Amino acid sequence: MGGLDATGPPPGAEVPNGAPRHVAITMDGNGRWARERSLPRLAGHRAGTENIRVVLEALERHGIPYVTIYAFSTENWGRPEAEVEGLIQLLGEALEREVRALHERNVRILHLGSRSRLPAHLAEAIEAGLELTKRNDGLTLCVGFDYGGRREIVDAVRELMAQGATPDEVTEDAIRGRMYLPEVPEPDLIIRTGGDQRLSNFLLWQAAYSELYFTPTLWPDFGQEGVDEAIDAYRRRPRRFGKAPDAD
Ligand code: IPE
Ligand code: IPE
Ligand code: MG
Repeated sequence: MGGLDATGPPPGAEVPNGAPRHVAITMDGNGRWARERSLPRLAGHRAGTENIRVVLEALERHGIPYVTIYAFSTENWGRPEAEVEGLIQLLGEALEREVRALHERNVRILHLGSRSRLPAHLAEAIEAGLELTKRNDGLTLCVGFDYGGRREIVDAVRELMAQGATPDEVTEDAIRGRMYLPEVPEPDLIIRTGGDQRLSNFLLWQAAYSELYFTPTLWPDFGQEGVDEAIDAYRRRPRRFGKAPDAD
């Protein structure tokens, strides 16, 4: 049976108590969090950035080895210039503040997306963070910044074509192997905060069999309790990967 290979090991493998192996999060609702407090949107993004550490620690306590956070989409470039600049600056500050601490906690940082459109100093700071933490074997944290699922698939197909692939060579395995982070297993659980129930171009290829969990909680308010609820909900869900349910 080769089917399960494509979607990672059966749920629960290698992680305690049937917890997901890879949790991916769309951190949405910063703007509304700020508006509720009559603050500028950027204050919401700041609170949201500070919340990442809280949620990561909660996920670590569950023994989850892979975490992906969606911080900036390819579509987010279309926001007002001041907001885009603010988000880029916040990423720079977060890297400066957190990378060493993450390294000390044995976290390996990976970047998901493109670095070519980022300011050079930020691309270099990301590169330095990846380099510093590349031998760590604790939690793997994938940071989605300038990430788009459609762009990732287009990039993979372009690479295949550039390598002269024939139609027969355009296979699921060939495309999978050309995703940005082919060594990272597909997400078992995708959490989206902020109440909207959509993917917004997140991990389109990898989400084929992910469990989706939506919560109205705005990202800066999503803490330990929110993580526990999401993981509990995941544990209760039977995953079938298209197969018939187990005979009873
Ligand atoms: C998520 O919060 C952060 C990014 C998309 C960068 P939003 O800024 O989308 O917050 P809402 O959805 O407007 O509340
Ligand atoms: C998704 O949120 C992207 C990130 C959280 C980085 P958006 O706020 O950009 O998504 P839409 O516009 O509501 O679909
Ligand atoms: Mg939003």
